[in-house]
Amino acid sequence: MLKKNYTNIEGMLHIGGVSVEELREKYGTPLYIYDQKLIKETARAFKDNFKSEIFESEISYASKAQSNLYLLGLLSKENLYLDTVSLGEMYIAIKAGFDPKKIHLHGNNKTREELVFAIKNKIGTIIIDSYEEFLFLEEILGERDKKMDCLLRINPDVKTSTHKYIQTSNADSKFGINIRDEKTPTYIKQMADSQFINILGFHAHIGSQVMEVGFFEEEANILFEFTKKMQEITQKTFSHINLGGGFGVRQNKKDRDFDLEKFLKDFAKIIEEKIKIYGLSIKKVGIEPGRSMVNQAGSSIYSVGSVKHTLEGLPLVFVDGGMSDNIRPSLYGAKYDALIANRLDEKNYEKFRVGGKLCESGDILIGETDLPYPKRGDILAIENTGAYSSAMSSNYNKLPKPAVVFVEDGRDYLAVKKESLEDLIKNDLTYKGE
Ligand SMILES: Cc1ncc(COP(=O)(O)O)c(C=O)c1O
Repeated sequence: MLKKNYTNIEGMLHIGGVSVEELREKYGTPLYIYDQKLIKETARAFKDNFKSEIFESEISYASKAQSNLYLLGLLSKENLYLDTVSLGEMYIAIKAGFDPKKIHLHGNNKTREELVFAIKNKIGTIIIDSYEEFLFLEEILGERDKKMDCLLRINPDVKTSTHKYIQTSNADSKFGINIRDEKTPTYIKQMADSQFINILGFHAHIGSQVMEVGFFEEEANILFEFTKKMQEITQKTFSHINLGGGFGVRQNKKDRDFDLEKFLKDFAKIIEEKIKIYGLSIKKVGIEPGRSMVNQAGSSIYSVGSVKHTLEGLPLVFVDGGMSDNIRPSLYGAKYDALIANRLDEKNYEKFRVGGKLCESGDILIGETDLPYPKRGDILAIENTGAYSSAMSSNYNKLPKPAVVFVEDGRDYLAVKKESLEDLIKNDLTYKGE
């Protein structure tokens, strides 16, 4: 099992051998802290366990989960592929040193600017999301007399058991071409005959935070069966399949454990079986982990301010951040646990809510967690915030975005500086009295 590098030294939480008190003094709070060793081990776990004798595996990190130059530099050194969804994500990926051939471009509404950038920079694969987008891309490639490798995103109609905001393959989903749409085979025949687009195969992504391998098995089955049918219709052999991301993580104490390494081994076996059953000549199978690559390695720390006892509900411990640095609890009810990181040896615990400092009643980071009675100045740590927290952060209430620091073997490496007050207005223009 992959393990966090958390230690308790005289009641003080240390991550990667560095005390959180020391990190607070150096970089302030709120602060995102990444356990660098765990990220490297997780990347290696994907490569070592999702592999096969009969297909080549392609692990693309879904950079939307968290990206900055430092993290992407580290993951490119681990020889991963990268999944991007915008001009900005492609730009950062190239700046961080990713070989453009290993970058994929996704998105349900790619702009001309994004597609032209992808073509000019020789991005490896574009994942086409709709028939209309196919026509648009074909026109842009035709104007330049260029040919591009592409996958077509299919909506396999697999209903997962997660929050509806992170489900992606229901019949009304905005992503992909629905497998049950009767026009789909005609579209694919036309795509397979394209002069400018080389359709390598199909892609699907069933949602996020999916804990049961059964949903992925269903997805693989649907996709392979579909590939076989499309081969018959188009008389073309498809060599690639991409099954997306969405692998679950243990977010809080009540969640069950998720053994990533075992899951990946089982998943690779299932895929091998399906390839054999359907008699396909699939050469490459891709997956796109986002959350499962970085979530467990990330923690957020805050400084405690007031504690408020309301007439109803659990007492609130307030911290110096909130929905601006982690919107997931208010956006889709994500549940975390907290600890008082400078008093780990305390014996008496009570139930609290953790509230942010932003002017929204919904700015509650945790609805219920057990803590020793918090004091002003304590350090409150929330584990498992590595994915979609910093990535979704905002400047609401004009809070500067926190720093991002990586730690390993007793050393810390600043990846993103904390925003300054000056940063908050650097793109603003002053009123001249017009
Ligand atoms: C196409 C695609 N691939 C991969 C991912 C990553 O999902 P996760 O972070 O749940 O692994 C997403 C997330 O939205 C996605 O849309």
